Amino acid sequence: MDDYRQLLENNQAWAEQLRLTEPEVFADMASGQSPETFFIGCADSRVPANSIVRVPPGDMFVHRNVANLVHNADMNILSSIEYACSHLKVKRIIVCGHTECGGVKAAMQARDYGVLDPWLRNIRDVYRLHALELDGIQDDNARYNRLVELNVEEQCLNVMKYSSVQSAMHAKPEFSVHGWVFDVKTCLIKDLNIDFEKGIAEFGKIYDLTGQMTTLAHQS
Ligand code: CO
Repeated sequence: MDDYRQLLENNQAWAEQLRLTEPEVFADMASGQSPETFFIGCADSRVPANSIVRVPPGDMFVHRNVANLVHNADMNILSSIEYACSHLKVKRIIVCGHTECGGVKAAMQARDYGVLDPWLRNIRDVYRLHALELDGIQDDNARYNRLVELNVEEQCLNVMKYSSVQSAMHAKPEFSVHGWVFDVKTCLIKDLNIDFEKGIAEFGKIYDLTGQMTTLAHQS
């Protein structure tokens, strides 16, 4: 059997297994979705969202792109965030980067990647914002790993620049944004424990779209 046919065979076996071993999940599939988590990750084949946190279908709303970027002119991520916050009313948003990210590595090279360049420029901008810290790291791999983390942090801040996210944060005190890095060598997740109170206080007065961000910073 060729690899393509195998994919469809696998699907039949998976569906049957789900029906037998998790009948409640199977029955819920057709009745709608009410995920509490919105996961924004890299499209890398080694970072399958549901698998790495071992949750069944229906538990996470997922958006993935090259290098887990949250760009202000990307209708795709914009629509996903709007739908997640205003309609699904998720409780948390997670931005998950990963080690050995080809997108981040490419952005650190002085090379022309053609149509990829406008996308990768977002990561180059993150480097520029943190050039003082990054240029001070002598080891190439350590500097690259730090950029993976800083990229996640910046994308988390970008998430909070959307009005639908700001409204959700204000409406639900428990609403949270998290930054993670998945290590492809250990398959373990590192929670960056990003200090969002500091982030909100710093950028609230600039990016506040709802007149509520500064209030949030004072409340927290
Ligand atoms: Co990647």
